[in-house]
Formats: sequence, structure tokens, C-alpha cells
Amino acid sequence: MGKMTNWQELEHKYLMHTVERIPLTLVRGEGAQVWDEDGREYLDFVGGWAVNSLGHCHPVVAEAVTEQAHTLIQTSNQFYTIPQLQLAELLVQNSCLDKVFFSNSGAEANEGAVKLARRYGKRYLGEAYEVITTMGSFHGRTLAMVAASGQAKFQQPYLPLPSGFINVEHNNIEAIKTATTNQTCAVMLEPVQGEGGVTLPDDDYLRAVRAWCDQKGILLILDEIQTGIGRTGTLFAYEQYGIEPDIMTLAKGMASGVPIGAILAKEEASVFTPGEHGSTFGGNPLACAAGYATLKFVINHDIAGNAKRVGEHLTKGLENLKQKFQFITEVRGRGLLVAMEFSSDIAQSIVMACLDRGLLVNRVKPNALRFMPPLVIDYKEVDEALGILDKALSDITPKGVI
Ligand SMILES: Cc1ncc(COP(=O)(O)O)c(C=O)c1O
Repeated sequence: MGKMTNWQELEHKYLMHTVERIPLTLVRGEGAQVWDEDGREYLDFVGGWAVNSLGHCHPVVAEAVTEQAHTLIQTSNQFYTIPQLQLAELLVQNSCLDKVFFSNSGAEANEGAVKLARRYGKRYLGEAYEVITTMGSFHGRTLAMVAASGQAKFQQPYLPLPSGFINVEHNNIEAIKTATTNQTCAVMLEPVQGEGGVTLPDDDYLRAVRAWCDQKGILLILDEIQTGIGRTGTLFAYEQYGIEPDIMTLAKGMASGVPIGAILAKEEASVFTPGEHGSTFGGNPLACAAGYATLKFVINHDIAGNAKRVGEHLTKGLENLKQKFQFITEVRGRGLLVAMEFSSDIAQSIVMACLDRGLLVNRVKPNALRFMPPLVIDYKEVDEALGILDKALSDITPKGVI
């Protein structure tokens, strides 16, 4: 195997420059650990961007994928395949939704959810098609989802964007009310904004949005692509807010790293008819076998409960660091989706200081880190990460950061 620098040269030569990579080539993973090409071990608190719910290469996922790869990898969706049906049944039995459509990614699930809402609008709401979303949200990279995501940095390079999306202030029910017209078919929200910096709404916000959607007869779409499958301490984040969505999207943690996404809908909102939506790979037996193995394990072993307990331990530890370092201004999150914010743009230097000491963390904003380790992580691993972070924060303190 080549040395790290060779891989970086290949990246520079052959890949489109869409991401500023960290100079680290990962070759193996197990649980919450990953190894680079030189055999150096790292504790992974990035978790594939909140994807490796059962950690790296969990045996139940690896075995399910291996067995399925030797059995049936792909058919067209004109045929019934068993893993897809098993996973759909498990999702429905463990959520408030009734019907499932499988996609290959989060953005694609959200696209489908918006199509579903528009279909509903055409049928029941006088052809209403607009979707209200919030500033700071992130719903994916397709053109329509860039329009849905209320962040100028994703939108500006691609103007003009598809119409039909209204971005309003986050955590402000009056802003949603003001933006609602007879063209509105849905409101789409993340229960906790993930990419936006782990932004939590007020406790009563989602309930107020739900009540408004009911009053106007419009749909509530919850994007649980990052928050779903136990990440925030319950199987789905909506459970913590005492509401139910009409449509929910999932992806990321659903198959522990194998690409998959899903749209779930209540019976009344499940208005697609044959031919109106589809996917070649969506619901593919290989991805669904990984999803089924993951979800069964998450449910049977109360992995969401682990995320809650260990997440509280992590948050407490980060709060302790906040007491110690004046330049930490806030610690916030739910379960194992937690952010630490600073008084200045030092997140990248902390990422690099942690990397030097064997811990991978994510810079979610120039002044904030995000922690999203595997949901199977234990207290000891969290303590180890906190110890490394403490040293990394001490490293940068003398450089005049206050
Ligand atoms: C809340 C949310 N929605 C949608 C997406 C897009 O998912 P994907 O990258 O799988 O298209 C993401 C990805 O970060 C996300 O966090």
C-alpha cells in the first residue's frame, strides 16, 4: 500500500475538489476505532458524518451484507425482494408512519418527500406546491434541496434555484405562519439542525408547527436523516417533542454505512400512484439487508438508550471543559449529536490538534465542533476522547485565544 502522500497526490490529480480533506488516509475500522495506512489508531467521533450507528464494520452488519452479497444483490423494483419488505415492516412497526419508499441517500429521500407533498397538494390543496423550510437548515445537495436548505453558501453558486421553497427564520412559529399562503403544501424541518451547527429549537416550537400545519391542513415533513435511528437518544427525535410528522425522511445511520435512504409517510399522505416515483437502486436487497440488520440491532439492544446515557456523559464532560476554558461559549445537543461552540474561529485548529493526539472530530462551523460518534460507544471511550480534547484545547490556549 502506498504512503499517505501518494494518496493525496492521486486525490489532487483525479478527484474534483469539492472538499478540503484532512490529511489522513483511513484504511480500516472497528467499533469506534479507525486506522490509517501506517497503522496508527484513532478514536472516531465523526462516525462517517453521523452514519456509523453501530460503529465500523459491526459483525451483524458485515455478516448480513456478506450473506446477501452471496445471495441476491440487485433486482428491479418490479419484483418483490425480502430484505426490502422486512426493513419496511420494521420501520413501520417502530414509528408513527405507515408506508415506506426507499432511496439511496438523504437528499434523494428529501426530494421524494417534497414530490410526495406536491402530489398531496395537487390532489387535496388546490394544487398548492410551496414548501416552507428554515434558515440554517440542511436538506441535501440536489438543486431542489439546495433551494430547501436555508444557507446562502450552498445556494449562491447555483442561482437561479428551483422555485417553490420559502426559507424562513428558524425557531420562529410566526415566521412560518406569515409565509403560509394558499400555495403552501408543507413545512419541512430538521428536529435538530445538524449541519447548521446542532441547533436545538425551543421545546414548544415543533408542537406549535404541528398545530399550525393541522390548522391549515398542510403536511409536516420531518427530515430525520441525521437525528433518526437513535442518534438523539430515542429511535426518532420527534418522540421527544410529543408530535408526529406526516412524512419523515431517513438515511445516514439507517444501514450503519451502506448507502440507503427512506421516505416514510402516514397512510393519508402516501399519495404516490404507480409510475409517479421510482429508483433503480432504491430498496436494493444489499442495502436493505444492512438496514434490516442495523435497525433490528438498534431496537433489540436499546441503542437509542445507550446514545442517551452516553450522550449525557459526553455532554457533562464537555460542560466541564467549558468551565475550564473561557473561550468555550456553549455546549448543546441531544444524545450523541453534540456541538461545542467557541468565541472565535478556532475549530479547525482544534480538529488538527485532536488529530495529532488520535481523535477525529468534525468542524461543523468555523467556531464550532460537532461530536457524532457511533451509537454503540461506551463511557470509557467517551472519557478517552474528553481527555484528548482537554489536551488539544490546552495546546491552543497559549496562542492568545481567550
Ligand atoms: C438533515 C440532513 N438532511 C439531508 C442530508 C443529505 O443527505 P445525503 O448527504 O445522504 O444526501 C443531510 C446530510 O448531511 C442531513 O444532515
